[in-house]
Amino acid sequence: FRLAVFASGGGSNFQSMIDAVEDGSLPAEIALCVSNHDGAGALDRAREHGIPTSVINPDGLQQPSFTRLLLDVLSEHDITFVALAGYLRKIPPAVVEAYHGRMVNIHPALLPAFGGKGMYGMNVHRAVVEYGVHWTGATVHLVDEEYDHGPIVLQQPVPVYPDDTPSDVAARVLNVEHQMYPRALRLFATGRVEIDGRTVRLLDASP
Ligand code: GRF
Repeated sequence: FRLAVFASGGGSNFQSMIDAVEDGSLPAEIALCVSNHDGAGALDRAREHGIPTSVINPDGLQQPSFTRLLLDVLSEHDITFVALAGYLRKIPPAVVEAYHGRMVNIHPALLPAFGGKGMYGMNVHRAVVEYGVHWTGATVHLVDEEYDHGPIVLQQPVPVYPDDTPSDVAARVLNVEHQMYPRALRLFATGRVEIDGRTVRLLDASP
């Protein structure tokens, strides 16, 4: 199980995976960190842990070149599974296809609520607070051609309280993400995920 993690931001989810590998709870090798820009904090975390990095900026590239660069770097590092962790670019269809059933994303809400184009980062938590929902949460899902749409692997609810600010909600959700993402990856790494259309069965999964 050779994992590549794609991240555009600070990479706290990426860090939770590194920690899980280091404490033995995630039987995987994090073999690559990919970002779309060289300022991503995730890249520093990778370097600190001796994980190879690759910066591929799609701006100004034609889609076929972007696709080729991604596929090349993934095959160069023998990547068998991809985790998107705060990666803010659309993955080209040919890459989604190449990693069909082997690419997941984490979204900081209970999909299909508060998902889709433009729903990322603080936008999600602002929308949650404005709507006045009492529950939000986090979702790990397989990646398909549509934003935030693939089959759902894990979901966990998180309460929203009346005086919460979007950052209060963000922090509460992020905390849950850090538990949940390594757990989802462990299920894949140990062959305990069965995918049947939109139905995902977790075999022998403890909660
Ligand atoms: C997380 O909230 C994740 O759900 C979303 O982007 C954020 C990334 O945070 N897709 P970090 O870079 O992992 O700290």
